[in-house]
Amino acid sequence: MIFGNVHLGYIVIETAKFADWRRFGRDAIGMHVEDTSPGVLRFRLDEHPCRFLLQHGPGEDVTALGWQLDDHATFEEIVSRVTGHGVPVTEGTADEAALRGVERLVRFPGPNGLTQEIFTRARTADTPLAMATHGGFVTGEAGIGHVALTTTKPHQVRGYYNTVFDARLSDFIDETISGIKLKIRFLRVNQRHHSLAIAAATRLPINPIRTRIQHVNVQVAALDDMTASYQRVKDLGFRMALRVGQHTNDRELSYYALTPSGFEWEVGWNPIVVDEQTWEPTTYQGISIWGHTPTGQTVVDKLAQFKAAATSLWHREDTVPALSGAGIPDD
Ligand SMILES: [Fe+2]
Repeated sequence: MIFGNVHLGYIVIETAKFADWRRFGRDAIGMHVEDTSPGVLRFRLDEHPCRFLLQHGPGEDVTALGWQLDDHATFEEIVSRVTGHGVPVTEGTADEAALRGVERLVRFPGPNGLTQEIFTRARTADTPLAMATHGGFVTGEAGIGHVALTTTKPHQVRGYYNTVFDARLSDFIDETISGIKLKIRFLRVNQRHHSLAIAAATRLPINPIRTRIQHVNVQVAALDDMTASYQRVKDLGFRMALRVGQHTNDRELSYYALTPSGFEWEVGWNPIVVDEQTWEPTTYQGISIWGHTPTGQTVVDKLAQFKAAATSLWHREDTVPALSGAGIPDD
């Protein structure tokens, strides 16, 4: 059993838009920026030297998720699960570990091209935090936040994260977005309500999102920091995807901004913490109790989504079948 010993530790992004990302991450969202190494931009949320590693490249996408594990026993357990299913793991180089601010990492393939990396110990940053988010970000036990992805094979993706990380289902949301009926599965690996959300169209094998991740979420400790960053996102001219609203399932108050790479970035406040003794999964209708209204979606955006959806029809999605197995159907 490794449930509870796994925490979303860092995210790797490939982008050629460093100047835009510096403004977005530091000036709008309010994170600590470090750009001392050439070709690399890093954002910090806390004492870890790196929570977001931006590497120069043409992808404009998230490329890897870094999971922090509580101890070496958990690390060895995951490595043996992965290799035991016939999937090789690769040791990260000393340079790669240094860039991510961790002592050591290994990586292995994940669904839909999203590389999974695991580590146990992070280094400690050697400069004090300097960021506009005065109340700080909520990380620690719950990890840095969550990611949401869209897939045509949700049962397999859920099977993968269950096999590798003991992920548990928190709940489902049924929602219709842009005329497409979606089912979203929310998975947790610790007390955070979800570290991963898996959305899929219910009737068609289409994926309307170009990027591997639809959105990244970070959590601020103070409501004022959420509203202040919302204002900065608008003042600096970045696109808002969804205005402030409150989610039905984890009750988080949040907004979604559009990153320079094209996926979305959610800043949230005050989501509920799961009590394992009493939790019962349910299904909610709609993602929001109130708010989260879309802003400024253009015809061009709609066409881009249609193109991505059409492309996904003939793109074979790799779920790493050795680890996803037969998948886990929705109850
Ligand atoms: Fe979210």
